[in-house]
Amino acid sequence: MVHTGPCQRYVFAGPQAGAMLRFGPIVVKGVADSFIDVTDAQGSALNCLFRGRIAKHLEGISPHLPESSVSTIGFIGGTGPEGRGLAVRFAVAGHQIVIGSRDASRATEAADEVKAILSEVNDAADVRGALNADAAAASDIVFLAVPYAGMIASLEQLSSSLTGKICVNVIAPLSFASGIPAAAPPEIGSAAEEAAQHTPDLRWVAGLHTLSARDLLKPTSSLDTDAIICGDDNDAKLTVSELLSEVPGLRPIDAGSLQSARYLEGATALLININKRYKSHASLTIAGLNVG
Ligand SMILES: NC(=O)c1ccc[n+]([C@@H]2O[C@H](COP(=O)([O-])OP(=O)(O)OC[C@H]3O[C@@H](n4cnc5c(N)ncnc54)[C@H](OP(=O)(O)O)[C@@H]3O)[C@@H](O)[C@H]2O)c1
Repeated sequence: MVHTGPCQRYVFAGPQAGAMLRFGPIVVKGVADSFIDVTDAQGSALNCLFRGRIAKHLEGISPHLPESSVSTIGFIGGTGPEGRGLAVRFAVAGHQIVIGSRDASRATEAADEVKAILSEVNDAADVRGALNADAAAASDIVFLAVPYAGMIASLEQLSSSLTGKICVNVIAPLSFASGIPAAAPPEIGSAAEEAAQHTPDLRWVAGLHTLSARDLLKPTSSLDTDAIICGDDNDAKLTVSELLSEVPGLRPIDAGSLQSARYLEGATALLININKRYKSHASLTIAGLNVG
């Protein structure tokens, strides 16, 4: 198991300590001042990972294969642009997709729309529509993509099917007083924290607020941006990070605890204001990180 061929060296230092890297099926969490040598070949990378010298320096190696643990992905409120956009990208990556809705026919319509978008890249995409409750029950991991106003009611209806599952909260509470988009967080600080307080038995991750739904819906374009996530469950974050790294051009970034959701949700308002000003669909990319 010792690799002797040429390697590239990756160094984790200072602020990069929490960053995650993906080598084939392996996800590595950086530890300050550690380094890792990898080659292009997946097998060699694996060998490198387990060389004694490297293992000594990397405490955060996950030998699990989170990629294989996620097969079906559900979207609560998946009929909106955010849910459909994420569904498109994860379907391209080969996952089974369930688009959830409060109405079965709207769900089917949205699933057909997603399949039509995907037809130029993947005729065999596995996408179906279902009631939100069925989507929650059928999925290994769920994205909560309803407007903030419907968040708590949705959780009340679905929490029993979601208990123990990873739930990614993409909700950004906003107000539009006088036509100006602004963050409108609940008293606790963020929608993500409120959801986690309300349903602590779900494995919460929050993020992706800074991706443009419009760009997600174009399966052939590389996103070339960061997917910033946060949460208090490190294994759940690793699984979500692994999933995101399957999408071409997306670099998963771990922004720390769930409390960071308040900044990510607020950044949505910032981006909408920027995009209004420049008539663009800009997203957020973090500069200066030597990861991904
Ligand atoms: N769009 C973006 O670019 C973007 C970016 C970052 C974050 N987000 C966040 O992602 C979430 C989804 O965004 P979106 O633009 O896709 O939203 P949306 O179109 O307003 O809503 C998504 C779906 O949620 C369902 N819904 C609407 N009101 C509801 C309620 N009161 N209770 C339960 N379900 C309800 C609807 O589906 P059914 O009627 O079929 O049930 C709707 O199609 C939002 O919270 C938003 O803040 C969006």
